[in-house]
Amino acid sequence: MIIELYNMKRFILFLLPLLGTLSANAWSGEVAIETPNTVLVLYAREGGDLRMAYYGSRGVSLQELRDAGANLNSSALPAFGTVDMVQLPALQVLHADGDLNLELKVESYELKTEDAAKTHIFMMQDKLQPVTVKVFYKAYNKVDIIETWTEIENAEKKPVTLKRYDSGHLVLRQGEVWITHMHGNWAAETEPTSEPLTGGVKIIRNTDGTRNAHLDAPEVMVSLDGSPQENSGRVIGAALCWSGNFELRFNTISHKEHHFYAGIDPQSSEYVLDPRQTFETPHLALTFSNEGLSGASRNFHRWARTEGMLHRGMKTGDILLNSWEGLYFNIDEARMIAMMDDISQFGGELFVMDDGWFGDKYPRKDDTSSLGDWVVDKNKLPNGLDALTKAARERGIKFGIWIEPEMVNTKSELFERHPEWVLQTKGRDLKLGRGGTQLVLDMTNPEVQDFVFKIVDDLLTQNPEIAYIKWDANASIQNFGSLYLPKNRQQNLYVDYHLGLLKTLKRIRAKYPDIVIQDCASGGGRANYGLLPYFDEFWTSDNTDALQRVFIQWGTSLFFPANAMACHINHCPYWNTGGRVIPIKFRCDVAMSGRLGIELQPKDMTDEERKQTSTCMADYKQLRQVVQTGNLYRLISPYDQKGISSLMYVDDARRQGVLFVYKIANYYDQPIPRVRLAGLNPGATYTLTEKNVRVGQKPCALSGKRFTGRFLMEVGLEMPLREEYASRVFFIEN
Ligand code: DGJ
Repeated sequence: MIIELYNMKRFILFLLPLLGTLSANAWSGEVAIETPNTVLVLYAREGGDLRMAYYGSRGVSLQELRDAGANLNSSALPAFGTVDMVQLPALQVLHADGDLNLELKVESYELKTEDAAKTHIFMMQDKLQPVTVKVFYKAYNKVDIIETWTEIENAEKKPVTLKRYDSGHLVLRQGEVWITHMHGNWAAETEPTSEPLTGGVKIIRNTDGTRNAHLDAPEVMVSLDGSPQENSGRVIGAALCWSGNFELRFNTISHKEHHFYAGIDPQSSEYVLDPRQTFETPHLALTFSNEGLSGASRNFHRWARTEGMLHRGMKTGDILLNSWEGLYFNIDEARMIAMMDDISQFGGELFVMDDGWFGDKYPRKDDTSSLGDWVVDKNKLPNGLDALTKAARERGIKFGIWIEPEMVNTKSELFERHPEWVLQTKGRDLKLGRGGTQLVLDMTNPEVQDFVFKIVDDLLTQNPEIAYIKWDANASIQNFGSLYLPKNRQQNLYVDYHLGLLKTLKRIRAKYPDIVIQDCASGGGRANYGLLPYFDEFWTSDNTDALQRVFIQWGTSLFFPANAMACHINHCPYWNTGGRVIPIKFRCDVAMSGRLGIELQPKDMTDEERKQTSTCMADYKQLRQVVQTGNLYRLISPYDQKGISSLMYVDDARRQGVLFVYKIANYYDQPIPRVRLAGLNPGATYTLTEKNVRVGQKPCALSGKRFTGRFLMEVGLEMPLREEYASRVFFIEN
């Protein structure tokens, strides 16, 4: 993100305002930034700042807005010193001489055209100081997403401080605006929390340091027509593509004008920018849909899968068994091979060995030691990883492995060798995380970046058959200090940590584009679009209780596609939810709605559980393409307390779909709402086939029946859901 200034011409541009005059041909005009169905209208007056007039359905022009008497006076990127203080600033720079103002005027406009997108670039310049701000809007040609970000260049002689440097800002003038943001916690991620915007400022912030999707996540939906609806109403969605601390801010003025800002959290990171350097903010991805929350979600999913925002793209993920909840740290060769036998017998395709396989001087027996010592524990695995990759090959499955590369325990050889590599402040006691010994490595330090790269590089060069890596991160930044960063750059730590991480991930991807990497952080702590371009999927939650997963996966799907979402069948009774027991059929059906896997000790399964799991995997292979890469329609929300929850996926051609229905409450004389489908072709006739039928039962009466798309969408289906935790999966085909 830091780019050296190299262009002399630009220097001349910087000098012009110093002479007290704007260049004569400063840009003025109107730009319509268009995607297939949306438009963002911007304009500037001669010598003026950039203004935002409209964001919504395509076909609206500045002239129409003017004729309608719309208030068009909002700055596109309000700067402290340019706009009145009613509009909170998105940008504020402390100049070398103590001046705190920015008076930005548009100097030039440029349009860059690529195959996938058009990027509109507005170059703005401060009237007095040699600081320029470029504002970018990248509009995709085939997806309704506009990414916006800025580049701030410091051509002053001394460092400046970026006191606020939001990635983007939107002004919304509609009346009854609601927001839906993702609140949650470890094992209870992404609970969509909806509320109306009322007068004043609302801030959604995460300051964990390493992970930013527990507690509050960097995405928000904005419903413009009252309380949020899944399949109707105008919705703007926004996702900040950043893995570190962030702030999403709403400022409502007089209950009718709403301003939205998103960017790196400035409170913890007033960033010092050296002379002749440019800071590029993270991108803010925006979408608009007339089809409710589900419509905005589909836009994000499509963008993720087709525009490189999810490394996996349109590929589907393998069915896997992960060893964590089945064995925790009790790994050994025999148990690993036994688990491989089980997953291959079920029809799975990949086995992943989780935490507990490493450590020489300090073998990893629990979470108090060994992070950083990425060598095989010879007591547990006497024949090394070779024996495991060979065993996987012999069983016709792939092999994957867990690492937590950015972390170290005080009880480790790495910490003994390099105590200076951990984040810390000289003279202050270390605050210790997980296991009472965990610390975060200093990713601002290039030596640490090399070390992290080498962990992956060594594993993959020494074991070329490793097909999958689970990359975990289980500590927040509690020791705010870097021995690598100079004293007067400590406040850059939170940002430089993530720039260091991204640099390392880019290096890994340049060498290993094909390895599948799961993004995990104490469950779903790092499900964000800052990291997903380098990862193929994320671990949705450490809570695998199927009932709670209906809720967690629902919330996660607001922004993330099904092929990114790892959903595993758990064992029961389940400790995380007080020993809850849920039938295996329901557990399978919930896991089948994302990237299917299992997370248990197969040896403890009953015959019925084993049979159902095999049926589920066989059926899932037929449904996987539509589930993982189809268009999602959320039908009945588990949050609406209707007793059931339902969602479906439909392929682009509207020929095939998969419908999931879950009974999530059970009482006598319970009304079960009809399930009205969506996304089908009204004129086409579809056949329903029940999948993952409960072992020992026949498909229900709906299976084999034919209905028009119109009937399914307008009348809907009465679902046979009698018993507690009843659930149904249907394949729908035209
Ligand atoms: C946290 C992850 O979320 C779990 O799935 C597991 O990998 C543990 N870490 C291992 O320590």
